[in-house]
Amino acid sequence: MHLTKEDEKILNGECGEGAQLAMQILYNLGEFYEASRMIEISSAQVSGVSYKTCGESLIDVLEQFAKGGARTCVPAYLNPAGMDLSRWKEMGITSEFAKPQLRIIDIYKSLGVLPTSSCTPYLMGNIPRRREHLAWSESSAVVFANTFFGARTNRESGISALASAIIGKTPLYGLHLIENRVPEVLFKISFTPEEVDYTLLGYYIGKKCGAKVPYIKGLSVVGRDQIKSLGAAIGAAGAVGLIHVENITPECGLYRREAITDIIKINASVMHDLRAEYAPPEVPDVVVLGCPHASVEELKFIAERLKGKKISRKLKLWVFTAGAVKCIAERMGWVQTIENAGGEVFCDTCMVVSPIISAEYDLVLTDSAKAAHYIPTLCGVPSGVLGTEDCINLALTGKLPD
Ligand code: F3S
Repeated sequence: MHLTKEDEKILNGECGEGAQLAMQILYNLGEFYEASRMIEISSAQVSGVSYKTCGESLIDVLEQFAKGGARTCVPAYLNPAGMDLSRWKEMGITSEFAKPQLRIIDIYKSLGVLPTSSCTPYLMGNIPRRREHLAWSESSAVVFANTFFGARTNRESGISALASAIIGKTPLYGLHLIENRVPEVLFKISFTPEEVDYTLLGYYIGKKCGAKVPYIKGLSVVGRDQIKSLGAAIGAAGAVGLIHVENITPECGLYRREAITDIIKINASVMHDLRAEYAPPEVPDVVVLGCPHASVEELKFIAERLKGKKISRKLKLWVFTAGAVKCIAERMGWVQTIENAGGEVFCDTCMVVSPIISAEYDLVLTDSAKAAHYIPTLCGVPSGVLGTEDCINLALTGKLPD
């Protein structure tokens, strides 16, 4: 990989050990993927924050950057941590967990990474433009940035995203190159989806296309939050970083019939079977919403359905969102409505990367196929999926929908 004179100086340690470490990581990455050179990025989004998933080894690595004097030079946003940073005691988090978790946040802050602690940086002002190069690492945010904005980012690891935030560059390979953004698998949708279908469809498509770029034709009623759901599930089931959704993705024009290797038709009967496959077999103990982190509109939807009602005493309802989004929803009174009904709204974390779901529960219900994918492996509890409205109704009645 070609390095500029400035890059070489950094690699030789002339700009400090922290920057040298960051440049070495990017250089190795670029060599591995045979990148021709580095390109400038406009922002980074850094995963690898939760003490539950990363442990002490993360602290060691971050301390190396900090001791070496590293500092970010582009806006860098942090992924969710392992707990609500202010209400961790109410989540049942122990101080043995909270102490190192807060240390991780402090080191990131000292490096210049903003403690947004969310997987939805685009809901709090980090809105990239079309063709802008980024180094984002949370898979759902990567899919969203490539798909909805037409920005360009690979699925970075937490460390490579941090290295890019420090250097302000990333190696030129993968989804930064237009030729790798051309759709390869065509999915033809022939039904009008219900709300739950976006996440289930995403999971199905992600499993079918692996690392190939999908083109989705015929998907109706698509807004920002549906793309958020669809993209998160696709990213969880496969290695996809970009989806072309007809009439939504700015680069849909890259579609070429001759580049399509597979055509997969999805009709109402396939969708019916998917809904049945992921529906909970019995009444769960816990209902979790907000994967990816809930938007202001989603919090409003939840609050409207809970207004003046009470959640069944047999169940818990937890909603996860970003601190900045929660602040707006609090001003609108929606957080209070959800909490008056017996629910909890936590920020900075989520149902997967925090220890809030433990073996004491038998079944968790969610409206997200991504959360349902990770809860059994990372929390050790089986999961089921229903639409948001059905999840809320179940939390209120304590009964499965018909
Ligand atoms: Fe975000 Fe956690 Fe889901 S990080 S995408 S809410 S698993």
